[in-house]
Amino acid sequence: MRVLVTGAGGQVGLDLIAELCAGGHEAHGSDVVARPGAGVLDPAVPWHGLDVTDPERVDGLVGEIRPDRIYHLAAILSARGEINPQRTYLVNQQGTWNVLEACRTHGVEQLIFTSTIAAYGPGLPPTVPEDVPLHPTTMYGVTKVAGELLGEYYHHRYGLDFRGVRFPGLISASLPGGGTSDYALFMYVDGVRHGAYQAFCRADTRIPLMYMPDGIRALVELPEAPRSRLRRCIYNVAAFSPSAQQIADSVARAIPGVRIGFEPDPRRQAILDSWPDALDDAAARADWGWQCRFDLDAMTDDLVPRVRELLERDPDQLGNAPH
Ligand SMILES: NC(=O)c1ccc[n+]([C@@H]2O[C@H](COP(=O)([O-])OP(=O)(O)OC[C@H]3O[C@@H](n4cnc5c(N)ncnc54)[C@H](O)[C@@H]3O)[C@@H](O)[C@H]2O)c1
Repeated sequence: MRVLVTGAGGQVGLDLIAELCAGGHEAHGSDVVARPGAGVLDPAVPWHGLDVTDPERVDGLVGEIRPDRIYHLAAILSARGEINPQRTYLVNQQGTWNVLEACRTHGVEQLIFTSTIAAYGPGLPPTVPEDVPLHPTTMYGVTKVAGELLGEYYHHRYGLDFRGVRFPGLISASLPGGGTSDYALFMYVDGVRHGAYQAFCRADTRIPLMYMPDGIRALVELPEAPRSRLRRCIYNVAAFSPSAQQIADSVARAIPGVRIGFEPDPRRQAILDSWPDALDDAAARADWGWQCRFDLDAMTDDLVPRVRELLERDPDQLGNAPH
């Protein structure tokens, strides 16, 4: 199958492309950023410069490649999105519209969308299913809700096989993209690098998180499910929901002597407090057999050696902790 990935140079995209290639697909990467180096991306993978805010370029590239499936990952995430909400609207909203239109024009069969816990707003029960009132407080969340709805519209109106997941905060040994869940990764990164980290949230902060290999598996398994078994377009997928203190304890188990403190940043804490504690993913389990494999400690055991290895090669590779 020929697959095009937008925003392919990011945290999710690079792991996804590797998995798609391993599965025998012809994967094409695209992004506004330059092609990643050979150590990061297989040199055999075609790479295309693509700004999703440019409708002509999106249309042109989709018409040229004629993919069977598009993964639309290009986005500006929650924390970075609040620095420039106008740009975030353009990339996330206009960009999604441009990709949907290109799918319609060129008869792309399937579009996979990556939504987020940021689609939810405050005032909800601690564990949320999909169909609750969505009143996000960030531009990122607003545009993701709109993207979900637009995709469903294209599904009903034009027959596009639009599917997507609402992801928890994703954690992997790679440079994170400016999400508000980044405190979790930096407990590991700065824990290894400096033996200490001051998290920008309270110790009792609790949001849904997932280890990247499970997230990538969701993106590979959902598109393969028979459409007739899917009762909806967008599915919650869940893994674990530790408090920030529980993550710190798990890190301390793997990195003895590490010192993790908490120094909440009001702006980021407000975003974290607006998100649910946990996602109810019963629909994904029932409809396409979704099941996570990693819990918090299993992630820690797998992640710490990977972070160590990356930092030994290049101490700056995983970026600097946000404050
Ligand atoms: N990482 C998470 O925790 C998380 C959680 C929930 C949902 N998601 C979703 O998964 C997707 C991928 O996230 P990620 O973590 O890889 O983010 P990321 O920031 O690492 O990657 C996003 C990519 O989009 C690219 N991009 C930005 N503007 C663009 C434009 N105008 N045109 C084309 N590309 C552009 C960036 O260069 C970047 O490579 C996003 O849609 C995000 O909303 C991520």
